[in-house]
Amino acid sequence: MERGHWGSRIGFVLAAAGSAVGLGNIWKFPYMAAENGGAAFLVVYIAIVFTLGVSVMLAEFVIGRAGERNPVGAFARLKGGAWPIVGYMGILAAFIILSFYSVVAGWTIAYVFKSASGLLATSDPAVLGGIFGDFSGDPVEPVIFHLLFMALTAGVVAAGVHAGIERSCEILLPLLFIILVILAIRAITLPGAAEGLRFYLQPDFSKITAETFNGALAQAFFSLSIGMGIMITYGSYLSPQINLPRSAAWVTFCDLIVALLAGLVVLPAVFAFSFDPQAGPGLVFITLPAVFAQMPFGVVFAVLFFVLLVIAALTSSVSLLEVLVAYAGDQWGWPRKSATVILSVIVFLLGIPSSLSLGIWSGYKIFGKGIFDFLDYLSSNLMLPLGGIAISLFVGWVIMPKAMSEATSDGGVAFRLAGVWLVICRYVAPIAIAWILLSGL
Ligand code: PHE
Repeated sequence: MERGHWGSRIGFVLAAAGSAVGLGNIWKFPYMAAENGGAAFLVVYIAIVFTLGVSVMLAEFVIGRAGERNPVGAFARLKGGAWPIVGYMGILAAFIILSFYSVVAGWTIAYVFKSASGLLATSDPAVLGGIFGDFSGDPVEPVIFHLLFMALTAGVVAAGVHAGIERSCEILLPLLFIILVILAIRAITLPGAAEGLRFYLQPDFSKITAETFNGALAQAFFSLSIGMGIMITYGSYLSPQINLPRSAAWVTFCDLIVALLAGLVVLPAVFAFSFDPQAGPGLVFITLPAVFAQMPFGVVFAVLFFVLLVIAALTSSVSLLEVLVAYAGDQWGWPRKSATVILSVIVFLLGIPSSLSLGIWSGYKIFGKGIFDFLDYLSSNLMLPLGGIAISLFVGWVIMPKAMSEATSDGGVAFRLAGVWLVICRYVAPIAIAWILLSGL
């Protein structure tokens, strides 16, 4: 298979940002912030994103461009030994994450139709909770939407790196941003929004605990799509002169801005209508429709919002499938189109148990968690941070002189924080991540 290439730096940055910006920012971030102390979580999250997050992302770009391969192939080419195991763990994580991610993304498609039909136009959270519970627990309906979403994802990936992924991100990401800004303006001008703003923006440092760090770390890795080799794969399609540190900074910045904006949409609105900000994963699907129902033109805003979620999910799921397709192409020589179809069918089948675990299979537990929650925890809280440690150590110690010349394009681009990055890769990231992981267990 001939390897793809990005058309331009901005196209690459948008594609990587498209991978990062997703359900993690819009569905997960607001409820993580709400459950972990609001502004206190925000402070810890921002600190982690701008130290560990951006450094690991740059490390992945470096491995990708130097190795010019999927995660397994890149580690094998650059060092070999046991290192490709890190890549295999990333491939496994991509299968796992995509399988349940596509289930949630399927819900967002369903909710576009549900909100357009007026079904959600009630402000009674109990009714909306019932609708969401019945829908997500149904053995058939969500599985069909999961299939539909996987088909959409496969369609984009089959079209290739430049024509499919880059083009769609170039259009969809700016659109997503615009819709989010409109919604944020609507939310913060609601009467009663001030209390939500205070909760979200005024830190109470006494609320910072070990759990805050743990949640913020898992959230940062998931949201930035790092720790599993997606950014290695995306970096492998880059030409040598692209400025990697600046690209990593931009992607990180975009991801953070979208998450912050999503919080600005969700939290003030929830407070303005006195709903419980601790509603957890149901916040978007249960509470927000109630909020929309009480707004002028609520149906329009609700449809816009769920369209936005589908878009955000699609640009992320595409990157997850791309890692698998790149692996099958590089290592086994599978043609892109057949690899896309075969792998999508496998991921679709893998996702079915996750979907069923919210309904008829809710009795099956793994380590006390349902299948869906277990896979989410296993990937975001364990596999991605472990991958982050390995990637930092690899760049910091194993391929260092080469890694630095890759990061600076052989001295061609200025990288003023090179020394800081080196220290973070060598010491800070491995130690901090390991410490946060252990304190969480
Ligand atoms: N970063 C994406 C989001 O926030 C999810 C994702 C995780 C995508 C890991 C790829 C890899 O929704």
